Amino acid sequence: MSAPAIAGIPRSAIPALIDREHERCAAANPRSRALAARSARHWLHGVPMHWMLDWGTPFPLFVAAAKGARFTDADGHSYADFCLGDTGAMFGHGPEPVAEAVRRQGERGFTAMLPSEDVAVVGELLAERFGLPYWQTAVTATDANRFVLRLARWLTGRTKILVFNGCYHGTVDETFVRLRSGRAIHRPGLIGQAVDLTANTKVVEFNDIPALEAALAPGDVACVITEPALTNIGMVLPQPGFHEALRKATRRVGTLLVIDETHSISTGPGGYTRAFDLTPDFFVLGKPIAGGIPCAVFGFTAEIADRLTRLWATKEPGHSGLGTTLSGSPLAMAAMRANLEQVMTPAAYEHMLGLSARLAQGVSALIAERSLPWHVSNLGARAEFVCAPRPPRNGTEAAAAMHGDLEHAIHVYLLNRGVLIAPFHNMTLVCPATTAADVERLLEALRDCLGELLS
Ligand SMILES: Cc1ncc(COP(=O)(O)O)c(C=O)c1O
Repeated sequence: MSAPAIAGIPRSAIPALIDREHERCAAANPRSRALAARSARHWLHGVPMHWMLDWGTPFPLFVAAAKGARFTDADGHSYADFCLGDTGAMFGHGPEPVAEAVRRQGERGFTAMLPSEDVAVVGELLAERFGLPYWQTAVTATDANRFVLRLARWLTGRTKILVFNGCYHGTVDETFVRLRSGRAIHRPGLIGQAVDLTANTKVVEFNDIPALEAALAPGDVACVITEPALTNIGMVLPQPGFHEALRKATRRVGTLLVIDETHSISTGPGGYTRAFDLTPDFFVLGKPIAGGIPCAVFGFTAEIADRLTRLWATKEPGHSGLGTTLSGSPLAMAAMRANLEQVMTPAAYEHMLGLSARLAQGVSALIAERSLPWHVSNLGARAEFVCAPRPPRNGTEAAAAMHGDLEHAIHVYLLNRGVLIAPFHNMTLVCPATTAADVERLLEALRDCLGELLS
């Protein structure tokens, strides 16, 4: 009888590898260990943001410097970075034009609650690139999504929204739901939730058009919010015809369509929306839009702008519930302008897409070499290896393909060999500064890792 396996890997090999790699990591990083101990005196669990503990290392690695596709840790190890701040640094760490714009802006002030001279140009750049005429900013994609949901409710006079199972749109309360046995529930792990989120959020499976139509039929849904492909539960690509059917179904019942491109901007210079001619009412983009400086934008159609203007004229005085103090700051505008004009260029994308395809092809070859029941999904500069034989069609199938301990073992093994991939599932991103040698380094380390797991 063959030994029990997880996604083709002998179950017993996984904890053994994790133990070895933890020891190796601890021995190689005394300075990070000391910084972790010192930080633990004043930061909860030793880090300023709890996600920094999610890397599967025995203590967090501290970053000394990051530039382009690489970073150096406090102990002097250099890494090829394929996580890239989980998309925040998708155009490389500290891209020079953005760094220069930030330095320049430093001489002129960072925040003012007034528009800076860059605003007019940035509006033109956004409209031209993404094809939507009107824009607003936020500091994070989470905030942009929150503001869009509020606007959608105001515009339609409806309270409900609809999301797809397995979605992630930042820490937006209403989107923290999951589908379990056909019912919406609060997302497992959610803390401190005061109101029942399922009262106002419907959830159906991605790629399930009949379920979507049924949920929209009562005409009580203000908007559907979705990524063009789910990227936060592994990767779930849209099936042929999905986006056309989604747009038709929403239009039929007066439901607005919000496309969140925060991760799928990996597809191309105008995101998935431009590459596949989507026609959302609202378009959201955060994380890398200002080259890593906190900033997010949301765009909308002329029709939405017109309806908003008319509503605004009738609105009673008082706080709208939209906005945060640092949104649209001169700093964010200067960084976004430099990024849009000089960094996020078609030439940069050409390089990123070519190398990501090479990476995906290389990982597919390794999977075939080892006859593993895995596959690779690719969305432009984003490639993900999934420990299941077939691409998942929805969030439930994607969740079933996630194997936390196996992912953890692979991540720490790669990290100990100077290669960083995202701490969640097996996501890789390629930036304009990534080289073919970086990709080969990842492939070599992954080949060795599979060799050890299967030996
Ligand atoms: C699709 C999507 N939207 C929004 C967000 C939230 O971004 P932020 O954490 O910068 O607010 C994320 C974060 O991963 C995301 O993947």
